[in-house]
Amino acid sequence: MPALYLKTYGCQMNERDSEQVAADFLAAGYSLASSPEQADVVLINTCSVREKAELKALGKMGMIMASSGAQFHTVYGIMGCMSQSLGRELFRELPRLDVVIGTQRYHRVLPLCDSLLKERLSSPIVKPMRRGAQLCETDPAPRSQDLIRDHLPPHGSCSAFVSIMQGCDMHCSYCIVPSTRGEERSRPMKDILTEVRSLVEQNGVKEVTLLGQIVNRYGREEPLVEGRSAFVRLLEAVHEISGLERIRFTSPHPIGFREDLVRAYTYLPKLCSHIHFPMQSGSDRILRLMRRPYKQAKYLELCHAMRAARPDLAITTDIIVGFPGETEEDYLLTRNAVEEVQFDNAFIFQYSPRRGTPAAEMPNQICLREKEARNHDLLELVNRIATARNAALVGSTQLVLVEGPSKTNPDRLQGRSPQNKPIVITSGSPIVGSIVPVRIEESTGFTLYGTAI
Ligand code: 5AD
Ligand code: SF4
Repeated sequence: MPALYLKTYGCQMNERDSEQVAADFLAAGYSLASSPEQADVVLINTCSVREKAELKALGKMGMIMASSGAQFHTVYGIMGCMSQSLGRELFRELPRLDVVIGTQRYHRVLPLCDSLLKERLSSPIVKPMRRGAQLCETDPAPRSQDLIRDHLPPHGSCSAFVSIMQGCDMHCSYCIVPSTRGEERSRPMKDILTEVRSLVEQNGVKEVTLLGQIVNRYGREEPLVEGRSAFVRLLEAVHEISGLERIRFTSPHPIGFREDLVRAYTYLPKLCSHIHFPMQSGSDRILRLMRRPYKQAKYLELCHAMRAARPDLAITTDIIVGFPGETEEDYLLTRNAVEEVQFDNAFIFQYSPRRGTPAAEMPNQICLREKEARNHDLLELVNRIATARNAALVGSTQLVLVEGPSKTNPDRLQGRSPQNKPIVITSGSPIVGSIVPVRIEESTGFTLYGTAI
C-alpha cells in the first residue's frame, strides 16, 4: 500500500484543502505516513502570506529531499499559495521537485502524483540522484468553486471546516492572497448544505467552521431577503440542520458587516460566542494606506454592537505592526484600540513585504528593529488582557466539545468552549465528540482547566 506524507502550513483554508487531498489519496488506497521517510508521495501545502512562511516550507522540503531516508521513487509535490504565486520558479529552488499545483487544481494532485509514482515503480532504471519530473499546473480552473468536494474530516474528529467561497477581491495593499487565490467566487448554497448534512450524518460532526477570505461577502450578488444577506441566510439554513450543534465562521471583514449579521447572534443559538475579526490597525491613516475601506470608529462600533447582541462574545483579531509609514503615533492608536476592545486573543504580525503588492513599493518601510519592538510591546499587552479575561472565567461552567487527548498531556482530554478557548479536562472522562459542562478551576493566558460535571 503506497503512503502519503502531507504537511500543511498557513490558514484553515489550507487545512481544509489538505483534508480534501488526503481524502482523495485514502480513497485511492493510500495510507497516511507520519514521517516523510516512510512515504511514497510527499506533499507540502504552502502559505505565502509572509516571507517566513515561504522560507519555512522551502526549508522543510529541501531537508526532506536531502535526508538519507528519501527513496529514489518518492514523488515530491508542492501545492497551495506558494505554488500559485511562484509556479515553475519552484523547480529552480528545488531541482528534485516533481509537481507544482495551484490553488484551484487540488482535484489534480492525486492523478498527477499517482501516475508518476506508478511509472517510477514500474521503471527498471534506478537513478538515485534524478531531477524532478517538473510538472506544473496553476491555471485557474473555470468554476473551481463547484469543484470543492466533500472531504473527510480527520479521523474521529467532531469538528470540520467547510469552504463556502474562494478567492478575494478586496486587494488590501499588503496582501498577496488575491494573486494566490484568485477572484472571489461563492459556492452554491445547496452544495454547502449537502456537505454539512453529510458531515453530520455520516461522520458524526457536531461543529462546522464556514471558511472564506471574507465570509460576510458570501453570495453578495444576490439581493437581500427581508433585510438579510445571503451569508446570514446561509447561517440560518446551516442552523436548521439537526444534529449539528455549533457553527463558526472565519473570517469576516468590517466592510459589508451589517446589522443583519449582528442580529444573527440574538436568534441563532448554535452560532458560537466567538468571532475572529481582523482589525489590522487602529490608525485611520494606516487603514487607508492598507486600502482597508473603513474607519477605526466603525470597527469599534461593530465590536460593541456584537457584544450587545451576545454579551459573552469572545473577540480575537489580526494586527499588522510596522506597516510602511507607521509612526509611533499610529502604533499608539493600535495599542489604544487593543485596550478598548479587550481582545480575547490577537495574532500580531510584523509587516512582511510581498512581491507584486503595492505596499512593498511604498516609501518609509519600517526597520526590523522597530517592527520587533512594536510586536513585543503589543504582545505583552495582548497577553495581559487575555490572561485577565481567562482568569475571570474561573468558577464558571463552560460547555466543552471534547476533541481528544490534550497535546501537552495525552492522559487528559481537551476540547473547546463556544468562545473557542481551549479547555483541558483535569478530572472526569467524558466521551470524545460529546459536549459536556466543565467547571473551570484554573486558567493561564490561553488555556482553561476544569472538571467535567
Ligand atoms: N505582512 C504581515 N502580515 C500580513 N497579513 C497578511 N499579509 C501580511 C503581510 N504582508 C496578516 C493579516 C491577515 C493575516 C492572515 O495575515 O493580518 O489578517
Ligand atoms: Fe496563507 Fe493566505 Fe494562502 Fe491562507 S490564503 S495559505 S493565509 S496566503
